[in-house]
Amino acid sequence: SSQKMIAPSILNADNLSLKEQILEVKLAGIKRLHIDIMDGHFVPNLSYGPELIKCITRDFPDMEIEIHLMSNNLPVMLPLFANLSCAVLEFHLEATDQIDKWIEYVRNKGIKVALAINPDTPVEKIVPFLDKIDQVLLMSVQPGFGGQKFRNEVIDKIVFLKKMMANHGYVIPLEIDGGINDVTANKVKVAGADIVVAGSYIFKHGMIKDQIDKLKCVMK
Ligand code: DX5
Ligand code: ZN
Repeated sequence: SSQKMIAPSILNADNLSLKEQILEVKLAGIKRLHIDIMDGHFVPNLSYGPELIKCITRDFPDMEIEIHLMSNNLPVMLPLFANLSCAVLEFHLEATDQIDKWIEYVRNKGIKVALAINPDTPVEKIVPFLDKIDQVLLMSVQPGFGGQKFRNEVIDKIVFLKKMMANHGYVIPLEIDGGINDVTANKVKVAGADIVVAGSYIFKHGMIKDQIDKLKCVMK
């Protein structure tokens, strides 16, 4: 369907060399960054705030920014990020019982909206929203930390959703986040994934460009 993509997650990048590392990512041909925002409540960890996003868009204006919001404090957190120049805003299905309202909110800001679902959430729950969103994010680890092991159960979810989308004529990129390396990227691609997020594989396992090139080979 849509074009395959790699969206590096900077969560496990070296924070004190972030600019250099994002430049390496850019020079390796990457068009989109995945930025993990954590609230210490919906997930038991913290990461970044809006000021970092502003610095990245200032220095890398052509880079698409995809915000993965891991918070259930949507009334505070969504406006913080929806008022920045990001391309995609992803929030969790588990984070609110007013999903339609927040989809509308993000959409009205002119930002693409994605719904994310956790590994233990049944994939069927996302079906009622497929006609209202621009992307689906299936978590293949419990959100909160990089470097966790890929959970194979996500494969069945990808296959289910791909079939469902084809039956209804939806063309929505399907993104997988967590435990992605060259082997697991191949598995999810074969199952039908369009976008893979990769954090520690890109930033903690050797030269950034080499790691991206390996993923590119898989995702082409
Ligand atoms: C986890 C984040 C992921 C994480 C991926 O909460 O949503 O984006 O950074 O890291 P790896 O690729 O190391 O699993
Ligand atoms: Zn993420």
